[in-house]
Amino acid sequence: MAEPAILRRHGSSIGQPLTRRDGPLKVTGAATYATDNNPPGLLHAVLATSTVARGRVAFLDVAAARAHPGVVEVITPANRPPLAQDPDAKDSPFNFRMELLQDDRVRYAGQPVAVVVAETLEAATEGALLLAPRYEAEPVQAELDGAEVFLPSTIGVGTPSALRNGDVEAGLAAAEARIAATYDTPMQYHNAMEPHSVVAAWEGDRLTLDIPTQGLALTQARIAGLFGVPPEGIHIRSPFLGGGFGSKLVSGPQVLGILAARMVGRPVKFALRREQMYGPVGHRAPTRQTFRLGADATGALTAIAHHVRTSSSRFDDFFEPAAQASHALYAAPALETTTEAVRLDTGTPTFMRAPGEASGSIALESAMDEMAEALGMDPLEFRLRNYAETEPSSGKPFSSKALRECYARGAAAFGWAGRPRAPRGMRDENGLLVGWGMGTATFPVHIFQARARAVLRRDGSGLAETGAHDMGQGAWTALAQIAADSMGLGIDRLEFRAGDSTLPDAGIAGGSGHTATAGSALRAAGEDVVAKLAALAMADERSPLFGAGNAGVVARDGRLLRRDDESRGEAFESVLARAGLEEIEGQGQGAADPAAQERYAMHAHGAVFAEVKVDPELGQVRATRLVGAFAAGNVINPRLVRSQYLGGMIWGVSFALHEAAVMDPRSGRVMNANLAEYHVPVNADVPSLEAILVEEHDPHVNALGIKGVGEIGITGSAGAVANAVWHATGVRVRQFPVAIEALIADWPQF
Ligand code: MOS
Repeated sequence: MAEPAILRRHGSSIGQPLTRRDGPLKVTGAATYATDNNPPGLLHAVLATSTVARGRVAFLDVAAARAHPGVVEVITPANRPPLAQDPDAKDSPFNFRMELLQDDRVRYAGQPVAVVVAETLEAATEGALLLAPRYEAEPVQAELDGAEVFLPSTIGVGTPSALRNGDVEAGLAAAEARIAATYDTPMQYHNAMEPHSVVAAWEGDRLTLDIPTQGLALTQARIAGLFGVPPEGIHIRSPFLGGGFGSKLVSGPQVLGILAARMVGRPVKFALRREQMYGPVGHRAPTRQTFRLGADATGALTAIAHHVRTSSSRFDDFFEPAAQASHALYAAPALETTTEAVRLDTGTPTFMRAPGEASGSIALESAMDEMAEALGMDPLEFRLRNYAETEPSSGKPFSSKALRECYARGAAAFGWAGRPRAPRGMRDENGLLVGWGMGTATFPVHIFQARARAVLRRDGSGLAETGAHDMGQGAWTALAQIAADSMGLGIDRLEFRAGDSTLPDAGIAGGSGHTATAGSALRAAGEDVVAKLAALAMADERSPLFGAGNAGVVARDGRLLRRDDESRGEAFESVLARAGLEEIEGQGQGAADPAAQERYAMHAHGAVFAEVKVDPELGQVRATRLVGAFAAGNVINPRLVRSQYLGGMIWGVSFALHEAAVMDPRSGRVMNANLAEYHVPVNADVPSLEAILVEEHDPHVNALGIKGVGEIGITGSAGAVANAVWHATGVRVRQFPVAIEALIADWPQF
């Protein structure tokens, strides 16, 4: 095999900035997303959704919809076939309760109330409009104020809702300086470019689904349960997702498309319209977070108290774990975090990129900034002063922590040292106010369970398989790099399969844990197949590896080599040929190491520095420059990792300055349920971004040393931008996103 020289110098694909293997498919439009599939006989299903947030559907004009040309079926609670499982049953935190036309109740605006199936999308859309529902509406509770408050027992997935280490009141009383401040974060919606959709085709009890999912096995199990069919009879194809951000861990309304296909006996295509994604597929819940911080005269924190109020729906439980942000970063002799909740007439919130840490971090970093200012300290110096050497919530040592280097490299690249401490101290050449702020980034290391298969073939090529999911993060490439290295193959000799439920279960793409999880399984499978091949060679006296035994064998570039003398070796092909084998197969599993998790706290870290410019007359804010330095263990592909960081940092800008679902408290409806009025940053909103990849070797997180990079970029960035707004203007806005009206309400005289 030809040696493409430099990339192979160390025999490694890992660490190379390869472009996406699926890139050409995507840029040429050849990549198939779920709704690109058009099986013969396809019908279209369209959802009718509630315009009220609470009450019941009193009337649907089913006759009018049925009479519309092209309409094949109208599904309402009156004729919806029975399901094998109650959609309101819940046996796992990932099995969210859903509205599958089980009754005429309306639990939130945008809830499915009927499905119209027709020969064309247009006919189904028209039919759904003709249903013209009438409602018996009831009063709505749609905001954090004015609702009954209760204490959930857990937040996120199983985190206790209260944590108390030490005596916070004593710590505050003993403090030289203290602050108390309350921050509000809004509801946010995932807004993946690709709406939730499905193409469903039944053959008896067997089902083929084209559906974008972050959890193939999870989706398979849930749908099998609801329809009472064996999971192995459900074939899910999900090669590409047009974004997910947590909302595609669960399949909600798509189940109605699958139900429609079963009812009409033909394949059905079903996709949410943009405005229908503001209801049944999850959101980031609003939070109100109160911080009380105290510090002594040296700037050391004496107490951190972080209290969160958040919301869930009336009918299911998901509590945004915003308090987690305070569990991992800053040391104080007393730490207390508590979460209370209210129930709102909304859809159920869910995981949304950096769930908990994103909301918690913007408040924590704002509070840290306010505390630094109260002490008259530079914000970076203050954070360095309070940098935790062991995880504050657990007392465990970190498995590794390169945060100091992130601070140093980020600050140097940004030019932080030139920052005047006082606000309103900088102007640009056009007279705009310039502000610099910073924030610390943190996200925990999650590892789930996965399996993989690796095959070496007689022709010298290899195949690696795992049911991994690519939401756009680059799984097709990064996971193939891991597989190639572990199989001792150049990546150009490797076929990689993912995104299909017939492959070994790769767990979920979530929690920034997919590369570590699926990658660990691929690595184990690769090592397994190489070990089997090496055993064949070492036992064969015709092999140059005969008897290599204890000296051991390494695999590289399609060859087995003696570890003690790399000039002695042979190609995989010749081992297989002599053994008369067409191929040889290995299996592997990936999972967390409980012993390591018991001993160590595992987090990725980073530091983000932001510049904003503010028009002194109009209050218009623009983020002009962000530098983030992140340490997240082993970097499999620096190009893709950088891309994840940049995406996260842009979301941080969005969190601080742009993004909010505007809830009408009277109707319980999201008033900007579209991509025109739900603001996200475009290119003009983020002129300059730099992500620095800080090298970090973590021997404890997993054999590959991977920590995960998908979510951390939001944390730190959002607070950095918010703090830069303060530094530019001298106005501390505590309600996010920072609105012009909030800024100019407190506009200083000048
Ligand atoms: Mo992420 S919120 O775990 O997709």
